[in-house]
Amino acid sequence: MKFQSFKTYAEMSKAAAEIVAGVVKAKPDCVLGLATGSSPIGTYDELVRMHKEEGLSFARCTSVNLDEYRGLPGTHPQSYRYFMDEHLFTRVDIPRERTFVPNGTAADPDVECAMYDERIKRLGGTDVQILGIGPDGHIGFNEPADEFTDETHLVDLDPSTIEANARFFDSAADVPRQALTMGMGGIMSAKKIVLVASGAAKKAVLDAAMNGPVTPKLPASILQKHPDVVVLYAEA
Ligand code: GLP
Repeated sequence: MKFQSFKTYAEMSKAAAEIVAGVVKAKPDCVLGLATGSSPIGTYDELVRMHKEEGLSFARCTSVNLDEYRGLPGTHPQSYRYFMDEHLFTRVDIPRERTFVPNGTAADPDVECAMYDERIKRLGGTDVQILGIGPDGHIGFNEPADEFTDETHLVDLDPSTIEANARFFDSAADVPRQALTMGMGGIMSAKKIVLVASGAAKKAVLDAAMNGPVTPKLPASILQKHPDVVVLYAEA
């Protein structure tokens, strides 16, 4: 795993966007693996700027997102579909019908998860996967567990994740208790992975993920087994 540190969030975001833009330019019909959370917002802003000012086009790209809260429709402001529409999809030229986010309101989540994996497989995996990291080391919504799960699956959110994500809702009671998340198979299928994280609070979990043992108790540690991961960290 490569590690690059930046003084500011803006510099980190620019570096992440340059990596993604490089993939898009080299392969205009690439598959983008996308993440939500506050960490990649600056990356998306920079990609939007490149689209508007430099003509970077996503017209032939496909995207697959990592996860979605169970029970939230895409029209809910805290749903990850809504987040992606707001921060990226409606601001660039990616065709909406080629942007995929797990359906949080699917009647049968297991069927939805199986279909999602089938789609990732058909696409041949992602060309580049953007990741954030949760305070407990989760990626997507792969929470600390006894074993790694390869498939897209329904997951019970950790109390610490509910608490960490409560800032986006009126109260912790409003945070959905479950989510659909791409599993480690989908994430590790990426040809290239860019993890963005900022602030002192993330430093210890990042160090453990990069340098500690590979264990499902710290889900991001699995990235040590991937041949092309870059961790971009901003101090502030
Ligand atoms: C959520 C998302 C993750 C994200 C994490 C960290 O739980 N499911 O994909 O990495 O939040 O979010 P933030 O970047 O806001 O710290």
